[in-house]
Formats: sequence, C-alpha cells, structure tokens
Amino acid sequence: MPASNLAPDWLTFPADPNALREPLWPEGVARNGDGEVAVHGIAVSELAAEYGTPLYVVDEDDLRSRARAFRDAFDEAFADLAGGVDVYYAGKAFLTVDVARWVTEEGLRLDTCSGGELAVARRAGVPAANLSLHGNNKSVAEIEAALTMGLGRIVVDSLDELERVGRTAERLGTTGSIMLRLTPGVHASTHEFIATAHEDQKFGLSMVDDDGASPAQRAVAFALEHPRLELLGVHAHIGSQIFEASGFAVAARKLLAFTAAVKAEHGVELAEMDLGGGYGIAYTEADTPRPAGELAAAMAAVVRETVAELGIACPRISIEPGRAISGPAGFTLYETGVQKTVAVEAGESTLPRRYISVDGGMSDNARPVLYEADYTAVVANRVTESDAIVSRVVGKHCESGDIVVRDVYLPEDVAAGDLLAVPATGAYCWALSSNYNYLARPAVVAVRGGASRLMVRRETEDDLLARDMGA
Ligand SMILES: Cc1ncc(COP(=O)(O)O)c(C=O)c1O
Repeated sequence: MPASNLAPDWLTFPADPNALREPLWPEGVARNGDGEVAVHGIAVSELAAEYGTPLYVVDEDDLRSRARAFRDAFDEAFADLAGGVDVYYAGKAFLTVDVARWVTEEGLRLDTCSGGELAVARRAGVPAANLSLHGNNKSVAEIEAALTMGLGRIVVDSLDELERVGRTAERLGTTGSIMLRLTPGVHASTHEFIATAHEDQKFGLSMVDDDGASPAQRAVAFALEHPRLELLGVHAHIGSQIFEASGFAVAARKLLAFTAAVKAEHGVELAEMDLGGGYGIAYTEADTPRPAGELAAAMAAVVRETVAELGIACPRISIEPGRAISGPAGFTLYETGVQKTVAVEAGESTLPRRYISVDGGMSDNARPVLYEADYTAVVANRVTESDAIVSRVVGKHCESGDIVVRDVYLPEDVAAGDLLAVPATGAYCWALSSNYNYLARPAVVAVRGGASRLMVRRETEDDLLARDMGA
C-alpha cells in the first residue's frame, strides 16, 4: 500500500506500523513477547482491564529521570557561574500531589499559577521556599495565601499587581519576595523566534519606553522603594515547543542588559533571572528535541559572555520546564469503537480517509482542538502484518473538531475493541481535561518497578452530579 496523498508532508509511511518510534515513548515502554505495548513489563491490556479506558499512564521513572536530567544539565552548564541555577517544574503541565512530591525528591522547585496549584503543592509538603506563583490576574486571596505561607517568590505580572502585592504585604505585616515578569519582545517556537518591539499579549511588563520610562522600569523603581517588597530579579517566558537556544539567548541578553541598567540607575544588583519554560518535546516524528544539556550549555555560554561584557555579577538563573519533564513520560490508552471511511476530494481524484473513533477525545486531550496540535498513535494490544493506511483518530464528543490524532498511518485491520496508545500526552492533557458532554475524566495511573498504582481515580457518575444542586 503506497503513502497517501492525504498525508501531510511531515508524515512518512512507516516501514513498520508496530514500531514504537524514538523519542516519542517513555523509557520503560516496549512491546513484550506477545507483541503488546508494556510499561515496565505491565501489558496495556492488563492496565485497561484493571483501570478502564481512556487511561492516562505515567512512567514514574521516566518522569523522574527527565526532572533529574534538567537539574543535572543546568547545574553542570552553570557550575562556573557564581549565581548557580534552580529548575522549577511548571506544574501547569501536569500536577498531582504525587507529581509535586516526585519533582521535589528529584531536587526541583515547583512553579504554580493559581491558588489551586499552590494547594496541591502544599498538600504534597513542598516547602514554601521552593515554590513560586505565576499568573496575570492573581486574586487578593491568592496573594494573601502566598504571602502568608512565605512563598519563595511571587512572579508579578503588572504594575497594578505590584501595588496589590505591596498593599497586601503591608496589611499582613509580611515581606513579599518578588520577581518581575518582563516581555523582552521575543516569541519563540520550534526552530524560530521573532523579536518585536511591542508585545500584543496579556502577560508581563513591557520593556518599551512609555513617556520617559518603560512599565518594567517603573515597576523596578516602585519595588525597590517599597518597604514590604523584596525584588529578587526579572523573568521572561518566550514561548513553547522551543528546540533551539537562540530565542532564550536573545531573551537572556535583554534581561541582563536590563539588570545592568537597574544597577546603573539604582545601584542595586538584581540577584536572580528566570528564563521561563518552553523546552520542546517530540509529539510526532516531525519533532526533533535537543537534549537538555545542549540547550543548557548554549544558554550558559550566552549568560557567561553577557555578564562579562556588561560588568555585572551573574544572577542566580532559574528555568521553568513543564512539558519537557512530564510530556514524554505519559501516554493515553483508548479503546477503539466505530469506524468509517470517507472519500476526500484531492485534485482530479478522490482518496479514502478512515476515521477511527475512540472512547475519549477532546475532554481528555484538548490540545488538538486548542492548538491544532499533532499527535501519533499505535495499536497497542497486538502487532499486525496488515498494511498501514492513512487514518484520523477522533473522539466521542458532539463536535466535528473532536480530533485526537489528525493524521497517522494505522494498520488496515484495526477493529473495535483494539487498544490505541497515543504518546506524549503527559503534559497539558490531564491538566486541561474537562467534563464536556458529561464524560467522566479518566484515571491516571503510575507505573514503577513493575507495579502500577492509581494516582487519580476515574470520575464516577456521582462525581459528575456532585455539584448539581438539582440532583
Ligand atoms: C510562565 C511559564 N513558565 C513555564 C511554562 C511551561 O512551559 P512548557 O511546559 O512549554 O515548558 C509556561 C507555559 O505556558 C509558562 O507560561
């Protein structure tokens, strides 16, 4: 069977549709002697029988080792720079009490972006000093909670919020340790970045002059004068799915130049600089992520060179990877249901496209709908000799855009009841899940040391009705 003209350019016809392509799968995943996908020896059919489908499966060792890899790579790359480095796991990607504990045990700090995420972190026993709080519109209650627990740092997003944090700290009689989130005008994704003067988006303090000073400069002046605010440094997050260090390098240079300007104007050396998250992962064969060490070395080189040029002390560096730690450690297991094949007009001719429905969809993975994100899939409960044909995996929701995998070659003999596994769903899938169409959110299962255990149980019908006051 030849490659289909309906396939996008990046999708190659697989030599073996049963293959688990690198680097899409967690370390502990392989086909077992029966040809089934297994996680540390546990076959997916066992997981499906015990926990049901759809099911989020997390390879705990894999997640932990990715966390360690970031920590080690950045520690090593920045070892000669006086300030040192902290890795904050961006909890928004995937946060449960277990995950908060795992990353803490692996020596990472934890970045949260709401009172809810803070509550998870606290329940996990993460020390307040290791936590940061993000968000462009933190409530007074969230700010109060952060100040009361003595949070390591609040990343302040605007002048309004700066005043609010200052007022709240005064009222509580505490001091708030803050970073200022700046918009250095760099937007990066995959292999490219663009640098613009203005930032037409909701986050952060602009660095562009506005009537004599930039909002970022005004924020520094305000924070330095405020008796209840301790200004730690500056922060920038430039995008997501970034594979090259060049965007981070431009942002680092801009933040360091800003830090030098603060020193010149106020005589204060800012102690910290955060370069955000956004490290890319492989969702499909088209993605080519770099090892953390490569990016870390390139970033350290730029920081080393720039602080020397500017004659400033090297601030303590921090980064906030999310998907790069949890994304590739997880996959989603679905059971297949109905199928149909449609004829799609392609120039003069029509070509077949097969739709395979699964028992989940946009409620367990919103990324294809939100960002037109691409994924891939394999038949997980068996191997097959049958030809691969271009297919679209869709969910069971009442939306025609409810696509799980837009384009993938899957064996012709996929039948109702087969298990499909979609890799790289460990980040921004459970975190973005919903109850659309009153589907119960799937369970999350961790596999480690040849044993599986429930991290989050599947929702029940009672859960779905629990807040309905008419029920
Ligand atoms: C401020 C900030 N830091 C870190 C992250 C994590 O990004 P990623 O999961 O792509 O590494 C995000 C994601 O949106 C973010 O907004």
